Amino acid sequence: MSERLIRRQEVIDALKQVIFFAKKDNIVNLNMIDDIEIKGKEVKVTIVFPKLDDPAVGIVYNSVVKTLKQELGDDIIVDVKPVSEAEKGRGPLAGVKNIIAVNAGKGGVGKSTVSANLTVALKKMGYRVGILDADIMGPSIPIMFGVEDGQPGVYEKEGKHVMVPIENYGIKILSLGFFVQPDQALMWRGSMINNAFNQLMKDTDWGNLDYLVIDMPPGTGDIQLTLAQSYPVRGIVTVTTPQKVAAADVRRAAMMYRQDKLTIPLLGIIENMSYFSPPDCPDHKYYIFGQGATEELAEELKIPVLGKVPIIEKVVESGDKGKPLALEDDNEISKVFEDIAKKVVEQIEKL
Ligand SMILES: Nc1ncnc2c1ncn2[C@@H]1O[C@H](COP(=O)(O)OP(=O)(O)OP(=O)(O)O)[C@@H](O)[C@H]1O
Ligand SMILES: [Mg+2]
Repeated sequence: MSERLIRRQEVIDALKQVIFFAKKDNIVNLNMIDDIEIKGKEVKVTIVFPKLDDPAVGIVYNSVVKTLKQELGDDIIVDVKPVSEAEKGRGPLAGVKNIIAVNAGKGGVGKSTVSANLTVALKKMGYRVGILDADIMGPSIPIMFGVEDGQPGVYEKEGKHVMVPIENYGIKILSLGFFVQPDQALMWRGSMINNAFNQLMKDTDWGNLDYLVIDMPPGTGDIQLTLAQSYPVRGIVTVTTPQKVAAADVRRAAMMYRQDKLTIPLLGIIENMSYFSPPDCPDHKYYIFGQGATEELAEELKIPVLGKVPIIEKVVESGDKGKPLALEDDNEISKVFEDIAKKVVEQIEKL
């Protein structure tokens, strides 16, 4: 008895019935089919997704199996292989290996200070790094890196404007603050902020980076959701201060990232303004804001404390001067952040 041959075109036609809801079209039109291999009754389909830790992957997977069996016969063997855009070198952020979002439950805990110094410490480890300031209400990264008067470059590619980040200290820097006057920020609606954020992520020539650190706005707003749903974030680093109230805000933010649909790994907590050591007796640590709340929270969320950053007057000064303290080699802050950066890398390598 001769076996019926499965033709490639039949497979493609069948796959046109499979919809990728996030983009409201079928996976063939969306150019998500990377490869189709047919061996007798076996059909192997490789499908490219924007990100793999997305429930849509499972839905498409099941739908492909069901549709192919329905159209080509129940006896065929379907093998679906999902791959990410990043693996395939596709997508706007294909050159960026790891996106790390720095988050905080509330404002003013030192999120920007931590983002800036963590980025610098990663750079000092030899990585190619960039920093994106996504905090439209309080963009402080340009000032911290001394590029507040900078203008990102723009060029045209395939009829689209592509932005070029500003570079200082060997770090690529981009901020919503370059495009919005502080007094206008309050008038921006959520959707406008989201659009601007998407442009900074997607329409930017980030080149090849090992780490892109994002200074997120505080709390759990639109940008957090957009980032989590649309971009392959490797992990979240959370900044808090030692007070119990700060911990409560972090808990809320952490829960958002752990929702079933998002599941972005929480890499750990950094406790900022942890303690104070008087310059004349550096071995004494005064825990001005209390102790223990961060450890409690870390235990509850089952994530590590990545480090504790002391209160140091020079941090404020260096922020204003446009040169993160971690750029210098021998101060307490640079040592603390070197350690934090190592732990962040370790956590990512464990994923
Ligand atoms: N470890 C520290 N020691 C001393 N001052 C610090 C420390 N960390 C942050 N600061 C200072 O506290 C202020 C707030 O820090 P930062 O701007 O980093 O916080 P943020 O969480 O990003 O705030 P926002 O919500 O406004 O964006 C700044 O003036 C900064 O210099
Ligand atoms: Mg900030």
